[in-house]
Amino acid sequence: MGSRIVATGRAIPRTVLTNKDLERYIDTSDEWIRSRTGIGQRYALRQGEALSEIATEASRQALKRAGLKPGDLDAIIVGTVSSEYAFPSFGCQIQQQLGVTSIPAFDVAAACSGFVYALSIADAQMRVGDFKRVLVVGADALSTMVDWNDRRTSVLFGDGAGAVVVVTEAGNRGVLSSLLRSAGEHWNLLSVRATGTRSTIDSEVRRCADDAIQMKGPELFKIAVKSMEEVSRLVADRAGVKLEEIDLFVPHQANLRIISAVAERLGMAPEKVFTNIDRFGNTSAASVPIALDEAIEQGRIHDGNIVMLNACGGGLTWGANLIRW
Ligand code: ACO
Repeated sequence: MGSRIVATGRAIPRTVLTNKDLERYIDTSDEWIRSRTGIGQRYALRQGEALSEIATEASRQALKRAGLKPGDLDAIIVGTVSSEYAFPSFGCQIQQQLGVTSIPAFDVAAACSGFVYALSIADAQMRVGDFKRVLVVGADALSTMVDWNDRRTSVLFGDGAGAVVVVTEAGNRGVLSSLLRSAGEHWNLLSVRATGTRSTIDSEVRRCADDAIQMKGPELFKIAVKSMEEVSRLVADRAGVKLEEIDLFVPHQANLRIISAVAERLGMAPEKVFTNIDRFGNTSAASVPIALDEAIEQGRIHDGNIVMLNACGGGLTWGANLIRW
C-alpha cells in the first residue's frame, strides 16, 4: 500500500504588497528585489485575519476536490511555524474549524521544509496502516515575524496556506520516496526567537529587531543550493528513478536564483521547473503545496508524471518527496 495525493487546495490573505508598495516604507527598489530574488509581490495578513482560517479554507477546497468530507479524515498533519498560540497546535485549530473530532491532529515544525516533512510523516504512517485518509497542510505567516525596517528580510516573505488530501492506494502511483535532513549546527543562519502572529503589518504590536526574523542570507544561499541538490539526487536514487525521468520539479520558492542554481546542477531544463515566487514571495511551509496546487491548475501535472517536491529552511532543515502522479 502506498499513499497518493488525490486533491490540493490553496488560500491566501486578502492584502497584496507589491515591491512598489514596499519602496514607500523601506530603502529598497522593485529592481533590486526582482533581480536578487525573483519576487514581485507577496500577500500579508492584516488585523482581523487568522492564518488558521486561511489554512482551513485551503483544506476545505482540497477536501471538496477529493470528494471527501472532513469526517472522512483519519488525521491532520500541519507543517507550520506560525501557530497562533504556543498551544493548542495549528492542527487542532484546523480540526476544530473543520468540525471533526477525535482524530489525531498535530504540527510539524521544520520552517520552510514543513510541508515536505509533514507529507513524509503522513506517507510513513499510512504505509504502516495507521491512517487511510490524511489532510496534509503547509501554512505560514512569516510577514508577522519580520522587522519591517530590515530590508534584508522584510522583502522576502509572504503568507498563505496550501493543503493536500492523501489516501492509501494499492498500485504504483503516489509517494515513491521521501528523504529528510537537518543540521542544527546552522540554527543561527535563520531564526525567530519569539513568536506571535498577531503582529500583522497594520497592527500596533510591531516587533523589535531582536524578536524578528534574523537571517544570514548569503551563507544560507550556499547551503540551500548544495543541500537541495544533494537531497534531490538521494531521493531519486532511493526510488530507483533517474533525474531525467522527472517531469516536474516543484521546489520551495525562497529565491529564484536558488531554484535556478539547483535546477542547473541537477541538469533540469527550465520548462521542468515550476515557479510562482514572483506572485507569492517565500511563504515558508505553504510554498510547496501552493505551487503544487497552481501547477495542477495550469495543467503542468498529468497522471503517471514523476514529480519532485523539495525544500530547505530554518533549522536548518531540508528534504524532498518523489511522487508518481
Ligand atoms: N533592497 C535593496 N538593497 C538591499 C536589500 C533590499 N531589499 N537587501 C539587501 N540589500 C543590499 C545589502 O544591504 C547589501 O548592500 P551593502 O553591500 O552596501 O551592504 C547588498 O544589497 C547585497 O546584500 P547581500 O545580502 O549580500 O545580497 P545577496 O545577493 O546575498 O541577496 C538574499 C540577499 C536575497 C537574501 C540572498 O542572500 C538569499 O536569497 N539568501 C537565501 C535566503 C533565503 O532564501 N531565506 C529564506 C529561507 S531559507 C530557504 O528557504 C532556503
